[in-house]
Amino acid sequence: MSKTALIVGVAGQDGSYLSELLLSKGYNVHGIVRRNSVSENQDSRIRGMGITTHYGDILDTPSLIRIFREVNPDEVYNLGAQSHVRISFDIPEFTIKTNGLGVLNILEACRALGNPNLKIYQASSSEMFGNTVDDDNYQRKSTPMNPTSPYGCAKVLGYNLVRHYRTAYNMHACNGILFNHESPRRGTNFVTNKIIKGAVEIKKGLRNELALGNLEAYRDWGHSKDYVRAMHLILNAEKPDDWVVATGQSRSIRDMCEVTFNLLGMDYKDYVTTDAKYMRPHELNYLRGDSSEIREKLGWKPEYTFESMVGEMVNHWMEKL
Ligand code: GDD
Repeated sequence: MSKTALIVGVAGQDGSYLSELLLSKGYNVHGIVRRNSVSENQDSRIRGMGITTHYGDILDTPSLIRIFREVNPDEVYNLGAQSHVRISFDIPEFTIKTNGLGVLNILEACRALGNPNLKIYQASSSEMFGNTVDDDNYQRKSTPMNPTSPYGCAKVLGYNLVRHYRTAYNMHACNGILFNHESPRRGTNFVTNKIIKGAVEIKKGLRNELALGNLEAYRDWGHSKDYVRAMHLILNAEKPDDWVVATGQSRSIRDMCEVTFNLLGMDYKDYVTTDAKYMRPHELNYLRGDSSEIREKLGWKPEYTFESMVGEMVNHWMEKL
């Protein structure tokens, strides 16, 4: 009999790739979407895919209880969040509620189902580490968490709740500590797609410059398609645990500009400016993840390289614009 998955936050980048992956594996896929005043925006990434959507919200426990009962899932993936770190400084209370208490609501809705075989995946984040780096310049599961944003603080709460429910109630609840992951479906206010879309617009004569914030931060960037494969592996490992998913390579925002503009035959220095409004009150300077555990124990490895990912994103915008 085919399994049923319920994806909370299905309308986002990862939700859409995860839906495709699970459908290809024969799952019945259900997803929770939030009401949005522009109805086209609600499901633009997942329209026509063949999944069943439900209106709900992780801060609306009655909606969760109703949907969880109706769907009776085998696997729950919580990808629902206020996912923008910079914006979390502007709306800290909403972010803490959604990304922290929202996880509690999901765990309680799962517990109320009373199914001992139910598996729960929580989208935890490398933002939880803040500026802590081990001596060998990597972050891993044992690296102390010192978040530098309301987003990161809330994610630490969600992470700890999952660990707590796993122990206290013997639930199959897992954290994937995912480092940054991108794709053509990434929101255009995240730095990779902002740079790539902006550079293509400049190439096509649609604009003259691109204003960014801090160019000296480093990120470990992978591809969302590779990372949703990791989510499924994590949930289906024999024992529930927490796992780091990363490429192990770190590059600066400046590097990202250089690679992108070079691909388009331009020099980023002629077009990129900086604007204080994109700076953060507290910056996370450097991310580089050690994912050796998931590679060794679960056989995960990324198929995309940094270059093939950027190339795919550039081609996407060249065709679209
Ligand atoms: N968004 C944005 N816009 N970031 C900029 C800009 C800009 O104009 N200019 C420089 N940056 C820098 C940010 O200061 C940050 O250091 C870096 O680019 C990456 O920013 P984002 O792409 O917004 O991602 P993020 O690292 O803050 O957060 C993403 O990764 C986390 C995992 O570490 C998000 O996907 C989070 O949801 C995720 O948990």
